[in-house]
Amino acid sequence: MLKQDTATWIEKDRKQLHPTYHPKSHANPLVVERGEGVWLYTTDGQKILDGMAGLWNVNAGYGREELAKAAYDQMKDLAFTSNFSGMTNLPSIQLADKLASFAYEGLNTTMFTSGGSEANDTAFKTARYYWKRKGKPGKYKVIARKGAYHGITLATTFATGLEKYQTMFGPAMEGFVHIPAPNPYRYEGTLKTGETIGQAAARELEEAILREGQDTVAAFIAEPVMGVGGVIVPPDDYFPLVRQICDKYEVLFIADEVITGFGRTGEWFALNHWGVKPDILSFAKAITSGYAQLGGIQLSDAIRETMETAADAEAFMHGFTYSGHAMACAVGLKNLEIMEREEFPKRARELGKRLLAGLQTLKEFSFVGDVRGLGLVCGVEIVSDKESKTADAVTTMKIFKAAQERGLRTRPLGNILAFSPPLSINEEEVDEIVKRLGAAMDGIA
Ligand SMILES: Cc1ncc(COP(=O)(O)O)c(C=O)c1O
Repeated sequence: MLKQDTATWIEKDRKQLHPTYHPKSHANPLVVERGEGVWLYTTDGQKILDGMAGLWNVNAGYGREELAKAAYDQMKDLAFTSNFSGMTNLPSIQLADKLASFAYEGLNTTMFTSGGSEANDTAFKTARYYWKRKGKPGKYKVIARKGAYHGITLATTFATGLEKYQTMFGPAMEGFVHIPAPNPYRYEGTLKTGETIGQAAARELEEAILREGQDTVAAFIAEPVMGVGGVIVPPDDYFPLVRQICDKYEVLFIADEVITGFGRTGEWFALNHWGVKPDILSFAKAITSGYAQLGGIQLSDAIRETMETAADAEAFMHGFTYSGHAMACAVGLKNLEIMEREEFPKRARELGKRLLAGLQTLKEFSFVGDVRGLGLVCGVEIVSDKESKTADAVTTMKIFKAAQERGLRTRPLGNILAFSPPLSINEEEVDEIVKRLGAAMDGIA
């Protein structure tokens, strides 16, 4: 790699627009050159513990030669061939076969994409098409939750329940409806006497379906643990109720497991915590641990069978150039082998408990309002006053910066700091996250 002064790299970096970054700003001043395990190394000599595993995705950690070799070997043989109309390739066949019933029994069909936004878009189009085939073309709306993040394509932007992603790109797309999320720390819906937050949030779903009209609603989409919206872990009664409501009103349940999939929460897929199965599953990110761009959806057998009732001339007119990309699928296969060999869900369960317990100790700071998590995804909510739970994004940014100065990368989400380290992290490194965050908080307290 050409050696240059970090300032020169940053200046040159102005030639790209960075995601969700001000066009006038310098890009992220961390110029990362190399990664190993949970550690990132920058061109100016910093060594940073990546408490976010990139963007919640580098589950296997950085610098895995096995994954590089899988990509190299596949690229030599066949980097890419079209999966459109009548062609296929061996890695995509093998990966779809491996994924059949891997996440949930009865989800045996995969359609590949290059990432999570494309996966959710594919899920919406599939849901719409499914209802057309069922003779109910009026069912096209999608109910999502406030605070949800489902991606950045036009449709997923408006499925997302975070206004800041939407205002510059309005008018809003019709057909997306938002209801409160079951946030145990600050529930923003109405609670009836005797109701749990899980029951109240599920009731909101039922009411929304009735308000919109059962015959207009195609699907409900939810992240089992909300990520970008602030690491919201739902109460245990929520998803079983959601499943019942979706069944009652013939609404497909799309689980967006783009973050929670592949072991992150301590189960291979997160709805298994509550014994619930979706009709459509969206996945991406950790399928390759970020070593290649890959995502997709999985369909229930019932949806697949319905799609198969189409007339011979009616192809499913959807797909991307890179659906079933040979190299990406080969990396996905190798990554799955690593995740199974190293028992990632078990690691996430055990090390997640350690991380959560460590972060809980920081509640002694006056501004730490809540600490929550499931497996190796945790959130620390910063408030200016614990009694009123007033959100404090300014202090959150200060802690974020102070942590970065101490070689710890977290992610500020409004007034919440997120943690989602590689699942390959060890106990000492977990403790290091807590230690560095505590020092950062000390520094600003
Ligand atoms: C829950 C969830 N869904 C979808 C996406 C979009 O995925 P991608 O950025 O790969 O398009 C993300 C990205 O962070 C996500 O967190």
